[in-house]
Amino acid sequence: MTAAVHVHRGDTAGTGYDILIGGGLMRDAGTLLARVLPEKPSALIVTDQNVGDLYLKRCVNAMEAAGWRLLPPVVLPAGEATKTFAHLEAVVDHALEHGVTRDTVVVALGGGVVGDIAGFAASVLLRGIRCVQMPTTLLAMVDSAVGGKTGINTRHGKNLAGSFHHPSLVIADTDMLATLPARELRAGYAEVLKYALIGDPVFFGWLEEHGAVLLAGDAALQAEAVRVCCAAKADIVARDETERADIRALLNLGHTFGHALEALAGYDGRILHGEAVAIGIEWAADLSAHLGLMPAAEAARISRHLLSAGLSGQPPFAVEAAEIVLKMQADKKAKDGRMTLVLLRGIGRAFVSRDVPPDTVRGFLQDRLGGQTGGLRHA
Ligand code: NAD
Ligand code: GLY
Repeated sequence: MTAAVHVHRGDTAGTGYDILIGGGLMRDAGTLLARVLPEKPSALIVTDQNVGDLYLKRCVNAMEAAGWRLLPPVVLPAGEATKTFAHLEAVVDHALEHGVTRDTVVVALGGGVVGDIAGFAASVLLRGIRCVQMPTTLLAMVDSAVGGKTGINTRHGKNLAGSFHHPSLVIADTDMLATLPARELRAGYAEVLKYALIGDPVFFGWLEEHGAVLLAGDAALQAEAVRVCCAAKADIVARDETERADIRALLNLGHTFGHALEALAGYDGRILHGEAVAIGIEWAADLSAHLGLMPAAEAARISRHLLSAGLSGQPPFAVEAAEIVLKMQADKKAKDGRMTLVLLRGIGRAFVSRDVPPDTVRGFLQDRLGGQTGGLRHA
């Protein structure tokens, strides 16, 4: 069964796009795309090595069977370390060498890394060409493929160069989650949980009930979670497309801590984005309780759920509280050294805070890291 969620772009009334969610959609990718781009311009598939090995041929076949002319695909190395200027340049150069035109559509086939870099390349190629997102990870299906944020990491930090460039269509073939390594599925689950904690306590209860089965591979539960998260993200993007009203910023729950951890690891794969976000979510919940903003029992409930999903614990490398805070102050959302945090008044009641002094965060982290043993724990 296919579900469709429409994204209305809040800042540009009248424009928007669909997210199609369901098993087996890749088979019909060429036809589904032709409904949105009936003139069938040329297409450039960008993927990574792992996804390419599994799905590139299938994607090419589906597109060609529907009459699309394809430029030679780009296959990038897999992993966060690919989100660099050098790889962006390689994608742009490849497209130019193979005759990209203003009508060409970039097809981002992969996880958030591919989606971010391919979307960014599309936004700068010939001053902007269209792109379509075909997310293949849970994280990309529920978050990165939707909402138009694209980007790369720089030596100064995470996602510090990028653009807003919305896709013309998102096709989330949930069958592809069957080949996703368990660690990647868990990492994506952190972003699923994020939506529940931001504004949907009923969904949190649903995750408490079904999370374990979902993580064990239940396709119907995975597709339902993707639908709920995409609907939540679409609602947020409609209300605050370019993050000016402290609404879209709520999606950064756990991310100020998480981005600092990723930067400190040098994007070397020791900690995945979703794993860093999970630690950040737990810290944000505990800090909220520590500051008396949220009952400690609710923070404990969140920790229990993270633990049951294999996402609770400490960073898998030694790290000092002071260096985390320094990185947090360098985050793109920080202002005058004051960091922007997303905190909780309860499950489903997130808010943006710029009031917590860096010293308070440093002291809190020193306590948290005191008994550092390293790595994520499993229930
Ligand atoms: P990823 O793209 O690195 O994919 C994870 C791994 O799984 C890779 O090794 C990939 O090759 C492999 N893989 C992907 N799909 C597979 C499949 N179906 N079967 C087998 N293997 C598969 O990581 P991710 O977690 O998808 O994305 C993380 C990135 O997303 C980060 O860079 C993060 O900053 C970004 N992000 C962006 C936004 C946004 O709004 N633009 C939102 C959240 C996260
Ligand atoms: N992933 C955060 C956002 O899209 O705003």
